[in-house]
Amino acid sequence: MLHLKLETDPRWVNIVESNIEEILTDHAWCEQKAATNAISIITLNSEYPDLVTDLLELAKEELEHFQMVHDIIKKRGYKLGRERKDSYVNELYKFMNKGGNRLQCMVDRLLFSAMIEARSCERFKLLSKEIKDPELSKFYYDLMVSEAGHYTLFISYARKYGKGVNVDKRWEELVAFECEVIKNYGKSETIHG
Ligand SMILES: [Fe+2]
Ligand SMILES: [Fe+2]
Repeated sequence: MLHLKLETDPRWVNIVESNIEEILTDHAWCEQKAATNAISIITLNSEYPDLVTDLLELAKEELEHFQMVHDIIKKRGYKLGRERKDSYVNELYKFMNKGGNRLQCMVDRLLFSAMIEARSCERFKLLSKEIKDPELSKFYYDLMVSEAGHYTLFISYARKYGKGVNVDKRWEELVAFECEVIKNYGKSETIHG
């Protein structure tokens, strides 16, 4: 359903399990970035009432996810570390056409967001299946369902408003681009690492 070309090597979960505090800190900041990204899309495309309505809801959900991860961090006696950079997302960002017209930029931003949701969803699914910690297994299952919904939402807005833009072709290009990027990951204890 997610149309990703490359699945994460399950051995990545062993790396994650060796440093739960790190994955939780990184994950918390991923949720913060997801909320911030939704607000940025609203700021840039405020003339679409349905998109604004749905992305406000999505931003709230991402903040709730941030809070849920932070609650787990506190419960386990850890502390939220400083913000982590996400080099996977930074590489993916380069795909976006920043010189195009406003509509092309909006489509690209929505597809970029959909892709991050798709990969996060794939990682959460793997975590929920493989991680030995029962609390985290359930937690990641629930988040996987939520991020799958976000993926669908971003893709459907790209299709709905991307009139005159070949959205399917652009998505195919992004899927191929992401495949090249993700090949170099799966080696560290971060959500997209
Ligand atoms: Fe989230
Ligand atoms: Fe999300």
